Amino acid sequence: MKDQSRGRVTKDGIRIYEAADFAGMHKAGRLAAEILDAMIAHVVPGVTTAALDRIITDMVEAAGAKSATIGYKGYRHASCISVNHVVCHGIPGDKTLKDGDILNIDVTVIVDGWFGDTSRMYVAGRPNRRAERLMQVTHDALMLGIEAVKPGNTFGDIGAAIQRYVESQRMSVVRDFCGHGLGQVFHAPPNVLHYGRPGTGAALEEGMFFTIEPMVNLGKPQTKVLADDWTAVTRDKSLSAQYEHSIGVTADGAEIFTLSPAGKFHPTWG
Ligand code: MF3
Ligand code: CO
Ligand code: CO
Repeated sequence: MKDQSRGRVTKDGIRIYEAADFAGMHKAGRLAAEILDAMIAHVVPGVTTAALDRIITDMVEAAGAKSATIGYKGYRHASCISVNHVVCHGIPGDKTLKDGDILNIDVTVIVDGWFGDTSRMYVAGRPNRRAERLMQVTHDALMLGIEAVKPGNTFGDIGAAIQRYVESQRMSVVRDFCGHGLGQVFHAPPNVLHYGRPGTGAALEEGMFFTIEPMVNLGKPQTKVLADDWTAVTRDKSLSAQYEHSIGVTADGAEIFTLSPAGKFHPTWG
């Protein structure tokens, strides 16, 4: 039987994990981040997104871990790969990347029962200036959101920090998808919104584990899901970017479980 006696759950249904649990999340998050590091070399013009997903599947297996997405609600791949105007949940397939395409690769692994969920942006060849700026703003928005994480602040403070920055750059925050609690499960309360008002929402407490994963569009925020029931695209066909970290709330801030071991968690590494 699963041990449900440890830890506690807040009135908002958010599980509070124990100090020892950070190590499990760190290990899972590190593997997911290492996989994303290794993918940098593979994202080149001419490769298909299915080929990229195959490499990820093999790396998860080689590490003795499990993919959280294979079999999740009928999903069949180890990653989501979202190219250009695809906002999230792009399904790997026979689409060939061409020079200047930007894409998000999102990987979730399970290591010893702990979930590590992270995504970042890649470029096939060279991005144009607008794409480059979009990725930079999205990355910085995620990090500003993480900077708002500490006990006593609220989830609304995270969303407000992200929204305020993104809109100051004349870009828009997607409302239709959000971050989520995780830990020994993939998706748990709360919904982590990437917009909102300071001081609203549940209070942050030490021991909460969740993702922050803002999606930012160059155009309007509206999305639609294609007939495959997964692929979300911008309604106005504008470019979209996303970055995601899994984090834990510490006594005075946040521990980022999915930091790039190679220090490559940045759109302008090349
Ligand atoms: N990794 C995604 C997230 O950030 C979820 C992907 S679910 C899938 O929550 F089934 F589409 F893979
Ligand atoms: Co996530
Ligand atoms: Co993810």
